Amino acid sequence: MKCNSHILFSLIVLSVGLNTIPVVSKYSKSGSDSYVLACGASGSGTDSDGRNWQSDANYIISSGNSTAATAQNQDPSLPSTIPYMTARIFSSESTYKFSVPKKGRLWVRLHFYPSTCTSLDPNTSYFSVTANTFTLLNNFSASITAQALTQAFIVREFSLIPIDSGTLNLTFTPSSNYDNAYAFVNGIEVIPMPDIYQPAALVGFSDQTLDVGSSTLQTMFRLNVGGRFIPAIKDSGLTRTWYDDTPYLFGAGSGVTSQANISIQYPTDNLPKHVAPLDVYSTARSMGPDSKVNQNYNLTWIFQVDPNFTYALRFHFCEYQETKVNQRVFDIYVNNQTAQEGADVIGWAGSQGVPIYKDYAVYVGDRSGDDDDLWVALHPSVSMKPEYYDAILNGLEIFKLNDSRGNLAGPNPVPSLMMLQAEAKKGFSPSGSSFVPVIGGILGGSAGIAIAALISIFVYRKMSGDYGNQYGSSANWLPLYGHSHTSASRSTISGKSNCSSHLSTLAQGLCRHFSLPDIKHATKNFDESQVIGVGGFGKVYKGIIDQGIAVAIKRSNPSSEQGVHEFQTEIEMLSKLRHKHLVSLIGFCEEDGEMVLVYDYMANGTLREHLYKGNNPAMSWKQRLEICIGAARGLHYLHTGARYTIIHRDVKTTNILLDEKWVAKVSDFGLSKTGPNLNQTHVSTVVKGSFGYLDPEYFRRQQLTEKSDVYSFGVVLFEVLCARPALNPSLPKEQVSLADWALHCQKKGTLWDIVDPYIKGDINPECYNKFAETAEKCLADHGYNRPSMGDVLWNLEYSLQLQDNPAGAGLIADSTTNDTDANHREIAGTEETGREGTDEPYSREIFSTVNPKGR
Ligand SMILES: *[C@@H]1O[C@H](CO)[C@@H](O)[C@H](O)[C@H]1NC(C)=O
Ligand SMILES: *[C@@H]1O[C@H](CO)[C@@H](O)[C@H](O)[C@H]1NC(C)=O
Ligand SMILES: *[C@@H]1O[C@H](CO)[C@@H](O)[C@H](O)[C@H]1NC(C)=O
Ligand SMILES: *[C@@H]1O[C@H](CO)[C@@H](O)[C@H](O)[C@H]1NC(C)=O
Ligand SMILES: *[C@@H]1O[C@H](CO)[C@@H](O)[C@H](O)[C@H]1NC(C)=O
Ligand SMILES: *[C@@H]1O[C@H](CO)[C@@H](O)[C@H](O)[C@H]1NC(C)=O
Ligand SMILES: *[C@@H]1O[C@H](CO)[C@@H](O)[C@H](O)[C@H]1NC(C)=O
Ligand SMILES: *[C@@H]1O[C@H](CO)[C@@H](O)[C@H](O)[C@H]1NC(C)=O
Ligand SMILES: *[C@@H]1O[C@H](CO)[C@@H](O)[C@H](O)[C@H]1NC(C)=O
Repeated sequence: MKCNSHILFSLIVLSVGLNTIPVVSKYSKSGSDSYVLACGASGSGTDSDGRNWQSDANYIISSGNSTAATAQNQDPSLPSTIPYMTARIFSSESTYKFSVPKKGRLWVRLHFYPSTCTSLDPNTSYFSVTANTFTLLNNFSASITAQALTQAFIVREFSLIPIDSGTLNLTFTPSSNYDNAYAFVNGIEVIPMPDIYQPAALVGFSDQTLDVGSSTLQTMFRLNVGGRFIPAIKDSGLTRTWYDDTPYLFGAGSGVTSQANISIQYPTDNLPKHVAPLDVYSTARSMGPDSKVNQNYNLTWIFQVDPNFTYALRFHFCEYQETKVNQRVFDIYVNNQTAQEGADVIGWAGSQGVPIYKDYAVYVGDRSGDDDDLWVALHPSVSMKPEYYDAILNGLEIFKLNDSRGNLAGPNPVPSLMMLQAEAKKGFSPSGSSFVPVIGGILGGSAGIAIAALISIFVYRKMSGDYGNQYGSSANWLPLYGHSHTSASRSTISGKSNCSSHLSTLAQGLCRHFSLPDIKHATKNFDESQVIGVGGFGKVYKGIIDQGIAVAIKRSNPSSEQGVHEFQTEIEMLSKLRHKHLVSLIGFCEEDGEMVLVYDYMANGTLREHLYKGNNPAMSWKQRLEICIGAARGLHYLHTGARYTIIHRDVKTTNILLDEKWVAKVSDFGLSKTGPNLNQTHVSTVVKGSFGYLDPEYFRRQQLTEKSDVYSFGVVLFEVLCARPALNPSLPKEQVSLADWALHCQKKGTLWDIVDPYIKGDINPECYNKFAETAEKCLADHGYNRPSMGDVLWNLEYSLQLQDNPAGAGLIADSTTNDTDANHREIAGTEETGREGTDEPYSREIFSTVNPKGR
C-alpha cells in the first residue's frame, strides 16, 4: 500500500544553470518586461501549451539559502512537467527582483506543487509572499491547501496596481511560527496587463461606486458560464484561464446551457477585445423554457470566499437568442441583496450578438458560525413585465480586493474529516489516488479557481472537441471526485501475456471473440473522433461492426494500471448475465497486449447527462421514474437472478446508460464482486466505489453486502429527484453530500424545496411521497434497515402507479393478495430470461415482498 503520492513525494536537489535572459512571452500584448519563470530549472523549456518558461536563477537577489530541486514523482494530473517538476526552496527570507514598467498593472501568477524533500518535513512549509507593500499569501501551506482541495498543484493569480518605482520585489518568507519552516515556489509569471478594471456599483448602497482599479486583486473565480474550459492560449491576449461554472451551481434549478448560432462581435467602441474572449460570450446559461418554473426559482451560484474582504464581481453578458428590448429582463442578487434590477442585455448592448459586462462590488463580513459564501442569483424581473420570464449569464469573474492594510491573504482551507480519516488509515486505501477524490465540505475560497482548473484541464485534454461524450461524463469529475472506477486493483498489465488464459473457458464460449483487425476496422483504427468517453479502464470508442451495428468498444489503456483483473471480472460477469436492464457484452478481443470489450451501443448515453450534465432537455418525471424502475430491475437481477449474488459496487448515474428507446441499462461491472454464499454474510474487501455514493457501513467496516448497492441506488433516486450531483463541493458544508442533505431535508419536511423545479409541476404528490420514502429507506445507516432491491423495485412500481392513477393504485396497495400477484406477473413478464440462472428467484423475491411493514 502506497501513501498518497499526490501530496507526498520527494525532491532531489540539483545544480542550477545560469546565464538565462528574460524573454518576451508571446501571449503578452505588452511585449517585453514579461517574466515566465520555471523556478529551480536549469534552463528554459516549453510547457504542453507551447509557452516558454525560463530559469529563475537570475532574478533572486538574496539567494544564500535557496536551493533548486526537482520532483521525483510526477502526479498524473499535472498539466505539464514545466514548471511543476522543478522547485526553488528557501530556508530564509529571499527576494526576486523584477524590473517592470512604471505604468500599468501586472499579473503575478504563482504556481505551487507541494512536495517533500528528503530532509524537509512538508508539514513545516509555511510561508508568506509579499509583492512590494502587498501581502499576497501569509502562513500559507501549499500542502494543506492541496490536500483540502484534493488536487496536486495550486495556481494563484494576482493583479498588482502599477508600481511607480519600476521595481517589483517578490519576497518569500518562511513562517517564524514553525521551526524549520521553509518556502518554495515552482513557477512565477510577472506579465504587464492593460487596466481592465473600473469603478463598480457597491451592492446595498444605491449610487455608490468603488474604484476597483486602485486595489491589488486576487482572482478567485473566472467562469465561462454555460461553456467550457478556455486555456490560457485561447484567451484574448491576457493568458487567463476560464472554467466551467457547473461546480458552483446551487440547488436543483441549474437552468439550461446554450451556444450562439449567430456571429458575435466586439462592439467598435468601449469594449476592448481583451476583456474576455468571444468564446465566453458565445455560450450562456439561462433559466429554461418554462416561464412558470422560472418564476419559482433563482438561478444561483455559490462561491466560498475568505471573510473580511471586499469582492468585485464582473458579469459578462451577450444576448444571442432574443432580439428586442424587454424580452428577457431579470434581477441580479448578490448575497441576497439586489445588485441590479431589470437587467436587460439588449437594452444595455444595443443589439443582439454584442458583448457587454457589468461590475458590482460587495463586502463579505465574518458571519459567525456560517460558511462565508458569496451568493449570486438571477431571477426574472416580474415587475418589468418582460415578454419572457428568463435570465441569462455568459461569464462571471470574482476578484478579492486588498484590505486597508494591503493584505490579500486568507487562512488555509481545512481538509475534510473524511479525508483525514482515510489518510490516517493509509493501509486501507488500495492506492493513494483512491482517496484523493474525497471531497469534504470545506473548500477554501481562494481555492475554487484551482479546483476548477483540474476539472477543466482534464476535460480539455481528454475530450477536446467532444461536447457530446456519453460514457465519460464522470470523467469530467475525475480530479474532484476521483476516478469513476476507483483504481483499486493496481495490477500491472502484463504487456504481451496471453490474456485468454485468464478467462474461464465458459466465458470464452459465451461471447464472441473479435480479432484486433476487426476492432481496428470498427473504430477507424482507434481514431480520436470515435471516442465517446473515458473511464478508469481506458477510452470508450463508438464502432460499427457487421456492416452497420453500432457498438461501444472499451479499450484498456496500457498505461492505466487498472487492467487485467477488471478486464477478466467484466468478461466473466457479463458473459454469464443477460438481462434487458443490463448492458450486454457482445464480445472481446485480446491480442498484442490489447484488451478490448465490445458492448451494445447506448445511444442516449448516461442518466446523469440527462439530469444536469450536458445540454440535454430535462426529462419528464414519468420518464425518470421508468428509468429508475429499469435500473432497479437490473440491480435486482444482479442480486438475486444469477447463481450467486452479484454486488455491483459502483452504482451511480453515470453507470446507468440509456439506449435509443430510453431503456435503462446498468453498466460497468468492473468492480463487481460475487457476493456471499453459504454461511458468509458479507464479503470483506478493500473499499472501492465512488464517493458520494459510498455506503457508510461499507466505508466503516469494509464489509460488502448487496445492501451497499441499495444505499448507492438511494443516492441515485435523490439525484433523479433533485437533479444535482451526489457531491457538490461548492455548496455549504451541510449540503455537499446529496445523501446527507436529502435525508436532512426529508426529516425536516423540506425535501420538496430541493426537488428539481422542472418536475415539480408534473409529479403527483402521492407518487412523490412514495418515491421519497423509498429513497430515504435506501439510505438507512445500517444495511439491515435498508430494503432489498426487490422491495425498492416494488415500491418504485407502486409509485409509478400512484403517478398514473392515484385512486386506482390505492386499491392495489390495500389488497394484500390477488392484485399484487397480478402486479408481480406483469413485472416478471417483461423480463428477458438470463442465460444462466433464470428469473425464477426474481419472481419469488417480488412475491415475497408483498407483505412488508413499510407500506
Ligand atoms: C541561511 O540560513 C541560516 C540559518 O538557517 C541563517 O543563519 C543565515 O543567515 C541564512 N543566510 C542568508 C544569506 O540568509
Ligand atoms: C505531518 O503532521 C502530522 C500530524 O501532526 C503527522 O501525523 C504526519 O506524520 C506529518 N507528516 C510528515 C511527513 O511528517
Ligand atoms: C526591493 O528590494 C531592494 C533590495 O532589497 C530594495 O532596495 C528596494 O527598496 C525594494 N523595493 C521596493 C519597492 O520595496
Ligand atoms: C439559431 O437557432 C434558433 C433556435 O435553435 C433557430 O430558430 C435559428 O434559425 C438559428 N439561426 C441560425 C442562423 O442558424
Ligand atoms: C473579521 O473581522 C472581525 C472584526 O474585525 C474579526 O473579529 C474576525 O476575527 C475577522 N475574521 C477573520 C476570519 O479574520
Ligand atoms: C441568502 O439566503 C439564503 C436562503 O434564504 C441563506 O441560506 C443564505 O445564507 C443567505 N446568504 C447570505 C450571504 O446572506
Ligand atoms: C431569489 O433570491 C432573492 C434574494 O435572495 C430572494 O429574495 C427571493 O425570494 C428568491 N426567490 C426565489 C424564488 O427563491
Ligand atoms: C488596497 O490598497 C490600496 C493601496 O494601499 C488602497 O488605496 C486601497 O484602498 C486598498 N483597497 C481596499 C479595498 O481597502
Ligand atoms: C497557520 O495555518 C495553520 C494551518 O491552517 C493553522 O493551524 C495556524 O493556526 C495558522 N497560524 C497562524 C499564526 O495563523
